[in-house]
Amino acid sequence: MLAGVRLRPAKRMKEIPPSSTFKVLNLAKELERQGKDIVHMEVGEPDFDTPAHIKRAAEEALARGMTKYTPSAGLPELREAITEHLATKGISTDAKNVIVTPGAKHAIFCTLAATLDPGDEVIIPSPCWTYEAMVRIVGGKPVFIESKQSDEFKVKVEHVQEALTDNTRMILLNYPNNPTGAVMQKKDLQSIIDLAINHDIWILSDEIYDCLVYEGKHVSVMSLPNTAERTIYINGFSKAYAMTGWRLGYAVAPVELIAEINKIQQASTTCAAGFVQAAGVAALRGPQDCVREMRDEYRKRRDVIVNGLNSIDGFECIKPAGAFYAFPRIKKPGISSLDFCEFLLREAGVAAVPGSGFGPYGEGHARFSYATSIQNIQRGLDQMGDTLARR
Ligand SMILES: Cc1ncc(COP(=O)(O)O)c(C=O)c1O
Repeated sequence: MLAGVRLRPAKRMKEIPPSSTFKVLNLAKELERQGKDIVHMEVGEPDFDTPAHIKRAAEEALARGMTKYTPSAGLPELREAITEHLATKGISTDAKNVIVTPGAKHAIFCTLAATLDPGDEVIIPSPCWTYEAMVRIVGGKPVFIESKQSDEFKVKVEHVQEALTDNTRMILLNYPNNPTGAVMQKKDLQSIIDLAINHDIWILSDEIYDCLVYEGKHVSVMSLPNTAERTIYINGFSKAYAMTGWRLGYAVAPVELIAEINKIQQASTTCAAGFVQAAGVAALRGPQDCVREMRDEYRKRRDVIVNGLNSIDGFECIKPAGAFYAFPRIKKPGISSLDFCEFLLREAGVAAVPGSGFGPYGEGHARFSYATSIQNIQRGLDQMGDTLARR
């Protein structure tokens, strides 16, 4: 307990929710300490190792003495490599529009800090990843709108329209989506972009799962006309190249905003580590078959988990078009997603994340990551099937 009137956390900390995986992870760890075998399907991290040529590039960079600060916006070579890479995705930009950060998460955080004034509203379709905490930390106000399973979890322009107020500063889009796996096609996106243009608001587009699309094709917000002046595009290396622990991501935005984002980076982390950035260059300029191979494997796993969940009385799961999560509806009336996930953990030995951790419209669902082997997925499905059949 903190003593004294001034020895207290900032008032805004009360409004900041802890990470949704926290409770489940802690309980899973406790059960493991007691000797229980847990199938981990809660973590949003590739189980693959970082490809060897990327690791080699970091080793060589270290051997060359790349142990110092780099320019805060990133190594010029990496910023160039990012623009070349984005050109292959139909995004035309310039190295001066790119800032490299330690992880995509930090790119989002710096962007929010650089764009939002206290009380500014950010429209966030939910179920959504952990943007709420970041928006609140910088004094912004999240305004959640529902994306429904019956709409394949795609956000509808009518819902965006209803949420707009004079205080709206930004809409935050994340497709392919964590946790639902939803992917938006061009026609789905265009009406939302038109609305953003008409109301003169920012679009923050987190496209970190863009390389993991199994149905249709990923369309980047930045590849559509008239978006560059109002879009902050976010991507990174964690998911595409299995590099979560390296902490490397980036934002693309108008030059004037990049300068502001860079101030936040300079005041917080200075820069991403130099040898990690060198590895990033190798990732983007090296062979891309590793990305395709991982995607093909995720696709197989997706089919196993979706079919498996739908064969268990207790779940209803639509086929996610992208990312590596299944987000089934829990078909057990009267139980919260948190209680259900706790039950699954204790009784079936399977760790999943309660839907309530993904904004106000995630309740009633659970998120299973299929960034784990087919063998593990099958084991988890068998254990859940047995447990729910006995219930
Ligand atoms: C939607 C989404 N955006 C961003 C990130 C953060 O990625 P990074 O590891 O590059 O910070 C994640 C990580 O889980 C994510 O799911």
